[in-house]
Amino acid sequence: MNFTGRHILSIDQLSRGDIDTIFSVADSMEPYAHRKKVTKVLDGAILGNMFFEPSTRTRVSFGSAFNLLGGEVRETTGVENSAIAKGESLYDTARVLSGYSDVIVMRHPQSGSVAEFAEASRVPVLNGGDGDNEHPSQALLDLYTIRKELDTKGRSLDDFRIALIGDLKYGRTVHSLCKLLGLYQRVKVVLVSPNELAMPDSYIDALRHSGHEVVETDELEPAIAGVDIAYSTRLQEERFASAEEAKLYRGRYRLNQAIYTKYCEPNTVIMHPLPRDSRSGANELDNDLNENPNLAIFRQTDNGVLVRMALFALVLDVVGQVDRESRPVNWYTGSRFQ
Ligand code: NCD
Repeated sequence: MNFTGRHILSIDQLSRGDIDTIFSVADSMEPYAHRKKVTKVLDGAILGNMFFEPSTRTRVSFGSAFNLLGGEVRETTGVENSAIAKGESLYDTARVLSGYSDVIVMRHPQSGSVAEFAEASRVPVLNGGDGDNEHPSQALLDLYTIRKELDTKGRSLDDFRIALIGDLKYGRTVHSLCKLLGLYQRVKVVLVSPNELAMPDSYIDALRHSGHEVVETDELEPAIAGVDIAYSTRLQEERFASAEEAKLYRGRYRLNQAIYTKYCEPNTVIMHPLPRDSRSGANELDNDLNENPNLAIFRQTDNGVLVRMALFALVLDVVGQVDRESRPVNWYTGSRFQ
């Protein structure tokens, strides 16, 4: 598709060719994200970064990505700090804020809210997560990471095995990721969840429709035994009707080094969209995996900046100008990206 001026709301909008485009632009952002070069291509542009739900990495990485392209970021966080708390509609908020920004990233607790906002917006809107529906930029950075990890093993996105583990009902990252996997071939998808938190049928049907083998189970150990990627998720406690109900599932699946060593094939990649819930009752991805070289969670977060830079550069149509507006960095950068 032609990305210029478009909203990015759902993976449904993207073809396989679009993903290739996003990934190749993301690759080209590396010198900027890794502090080798500076670009001012978005000098003067403003991002409206509107997060009406808790966020650390999505908000900061979208903001950093915009800054790394030379643009400025204005933020609104929390419904309680915005006029939405005074009863303002998404329509009015969108009309107003799109007069102040060149592009908007929005996260909101209601499914469908970002699309509703985008309809009234005068500038492109990127979905930073709408309720339990979708989180397209996370899925793109996840797939970008999967591609890189498979590549180091001489493998490709067209023939691999992945386990999605945890709260598959409310987890929007795995919803968007399933839609993306549907664009590839010969993917085996193992869905690990309690029955009550199973992946909604529509996502499973779409995977099967793409010809993928889909296995559903509520047991972790056998599921992680035969996959290339083990993708763990947090119980989305904030989406449960009550804390009591959430408690029933807390700590149900815990991946740690001992289980990894016992059940996983060597070099199984461990992923998680983060945050991992490190409270002792939950702990779905143990800290004792931190030194495991196959733990890709911080490669995911680093890759998120590249992918979000690519989305901005495409939507604002500056891909061809990024290098023209660049110079080498002139400060100490260390070696954190090696
Ligand atoms: C995810 C989200 O907000 O859906 N976090 C993120 O953006 N990386 C996952 C989660 O909160 O569990």
